[in-house]
Amino acid sequence: MKKDFMNAVEFSHHLIKKHLNKDSTLIDATAGNGKDTLFLAEIADQNTEILAFDIQKKAVEKTKELLEKNKLGDKVKVINDSHANLDAYLKEDQLSLVLFNLGYLPGGDKSIITKAESTLKAVEKSLYFLKKYGIIILVIYKGHQGGLKEQKALIDFVKKLDYKKYNVLKYEFINQSAAPPELIAIIRRA
Ligand SMILES: C[S@@+](CC[C@H](N)C(=O)[O-])C[C@H]1O[C@@H](n2cnc3c(N)ncnc32)[C@H](O)[C@@H]1O
Repeated sequence: MKKDFMNAVEFSHHLIKKHLNKDSTLIDATAGNGKDTLFLAEIADQNTEILAFDIQKKAVEKTKELLEKNKLGDKVKVINDSHANLDAYLKEDQLSLVLFNLGYLPGGDKSIITKAESTLKAVEKSLYFLKKYGIIILVIYKGHQGGLKEQKALIDFVKKLDYKKYNVLKYEFINQSAAPPELIAIIRRA
């Protein structure tokens, strides 16, 4: 067992395992190389719908490839669209998890990044479709250009969410010289 604290990605997976609600829809809002999508496909059962979004064809292909390699291709609908349009694929009260792993595609074009405006739109829409006790997780990177702007916009937004309806958590290492990713998790409690 790892002795150090979990990093933000590990902590996101820990929260997902703890709060997983199987008879619902799970979304990987930023499929990238497919690692998080694969994790969702591995832990979900056949009644769980999984959608994965990415604006880059390369990411969609990589994600499909990884799922096929692990014989889980039929468990996930990988969609080449912005997460800002996720409402087009959903019905009300259907979502139990939306996971965002922001920034650029590792090993890909570093100028294609998630942006505050579309990320916020996707978070607002996710909140609308979220079931009671459903969660939204954002793993946020501040080290690249545009990252800090996106982080600030998200923090400003989630801070104002009504505490009677949502609990919001921030998980962050605060004594490191680099800019390690931080995590925001939102749970709908009412
Ligand atoms: C840090 S990577 C995700 C890593 C991924 N979770 C994994 O496990 O490999 C961020 C991804 O977000 C994608 N992205 C950027 N803007 C987006 C948008 N508006 N909608 C969906 N995906 C977007 C990028 O193309 C990139 O692949």
